[in-house]
Amino acid sequence: MNGSRPRKSLAGRTPRLGVLHIASEAAPWAKTGGLADVVGALPVALETLGHRVTTVLPLYRGMALPGAEIRPLEITLGTRRWRGSLHVLAQGATRRVVAVDVPEWYDRDGLYAQGGRDHPDNAERFAGLAQAALNFTQDDGDAGRIDIVHAHDWQAGLVPALIRQQPSRWTRVARAGLVMTIHNLAYQGLFPKDVVSRLGLGGDMFTLAVGEFWDQLSYLKCGIASSDMVTTVSPSYARETVQPEFGFAFDGVLHAVGDRYVGILNGIDTSVWDPASDPFLPARYSAGDVTGKRHNKRALLEHFGLPVGDDALSRPVIGIVSRLVNQKGCDLVLASAEPLMALDATWVVLGTGESHYETAFKALAARFPSRMGVQIGFDEGVAHVIEAGADLFLMPSRFEPCGLNQMYSLRYGTVPVVRAVGGLDDTVRGYGPRARRANGFKFHEATPDALLRAMRQALRVYHRPDRWAALMREGMSDDHSWGPSAREYVKVYRQARYAAAQRWAE
Ligand code: ADP
Ligand code: GLC
Repeated sequence: MNGSRPRKSLAGRTPRLGVLHIASEAAPWAKTGGLADVVGALPVALETLGHRVTTVLPLYRGMALPGAEIRPLEITLGTRRWRGSLHVLAQGATRRVVAVDVPEWYDRDGLYAQGGRDHPDNAERFAGLAQAALNFTQDDGDAGRIDIVHAHDWQAGLVPALIRQQPSRWTRVARAGLVMTIHNLAYQGLFPKDVVSRLGLGGDMFTLAVGEFWDQLSYLKCGIASSDMVTTVSPSYARETVQPEFGFAFDGVLHAVGDRYVGILNGIDTSVWDPASDPFLPARYSAGDVTGKRHNKRALLEHFGLPVGDDALSRPVIGIVSRLVNQKGCDLVLASAEPLMALDATWVVLGTGESHYETAFKALAARFPSRMGVQIGFDEGVAHVIEAGADLFLMPSRFEPCGLNQMYSLRYGTVPVVRAVGGLDDTVRGYGPRARRANGFKFHEATPDALLRAMRQALRVYHRPDRWAALMREGMSDDHSWGPSAREYVKVYRQARYAAAQRWAE
């Protein structure tokens, strides 16, 4: 994109952008993972930089009753029609969150799946989200100009595609810069090709240049192929995903995007994740005085029903908070369970996911009741207490687009042990003889042995208090706040606007 940088205005100030985000989850309203944290926090950071931001997401079961109804909504996909309404979930001077309430789609258990099975109508549910967001832009008198449409993951992938295919229908956003962010390439929104006619998605959607992917329709590919700029959530993951090993068969598609594909490291919401003010913690602490950490450690062990004597308190606690899926390297932990349990450490695991992993972790805790505590489920408060009360945090991911937990750990003085992939590699500086400013431990091969070696090394260093304190200090002083990353997004937005203008000029 050489030469694509737009000129600054005469006053030397960059003009304010109107940005529309579309996503399937956003904290604090609906969350299954890091996507929600990002979609919750990035708009706030953009607003701080002076931009106007609207976020559109579904209204799922259990979400607090929304505020004022904006208007009723009618969505037609193919020959079927759904009724619902749009509501304001949150409103500030230059930031709004809008919820799409279509009870037939969203008022049920599980955002995407229930009992380990995807909802059978996910194609409709997220085509509907795209339509609802676009409908909203058409009729929203308050919206102001929308310069950028920013879609997150496959659930929003149809948004840029519909804008490109139907510019005369979606006039308010037809000329906007289109940005697609990939949070995880493993989830591609693949559906049988008959959804194209069933949902009335239009002739060009199912072409190789747009959404056709091995004879199926991929909502993610629709979004990638239709956007002016494509981003992912760390520089390393951007490099990895154009290679077959990490590309999940999308490496060719992403390669073709060329230098319009960039990696921007996620930030963390420092108003939510700060050990000095975290309301979930029994004791607060900061880099200047970490004594509160020991109190949290005791509370953590108590919560998991583990011993809390002096011995237990001096033994390192290793924390895991994770979706229990293949991506997170659960199999590596389970494959080295015997030697890991023989280490002089205590384990606490909070997670939910594939039932065979849930069962295996529970069985491990039953075998080693004084060494391992396992909680199956999603529990925001316990996740915070693990970050604060553990000494080490383990993320042995097979791949990791960014990963937020290692950044939370760093900020909480809980030393991360990670596999050197994706965003983990970008944020953790591994301990070693020549390492400078190390803040954690890294291993490279995805093998139980490599994991075990890293854990052994970490535990040896744990018993060298001066070195351990230096590791904690380094991590706690890293700055992962959203500001710098939000500025990177603004650069991408300007490139996207420029590219959109070029498209229209052709
Ligand atoms: P991913 O999005 O791939 O799951 P991230 O590290 O980016 O991984 O983000 C995970 C987010 O979800 C973090 O905020 C983490 O604390 C949270 N999380 C994951 N599992 C649980 C759980 N069982 N209970 C509470 N929070 C969880
Ligand atoms: C995905 C990725 C995770 C990333 C998160 C937010 O869920 O698995 O690595 O941190 O999205 O971008």
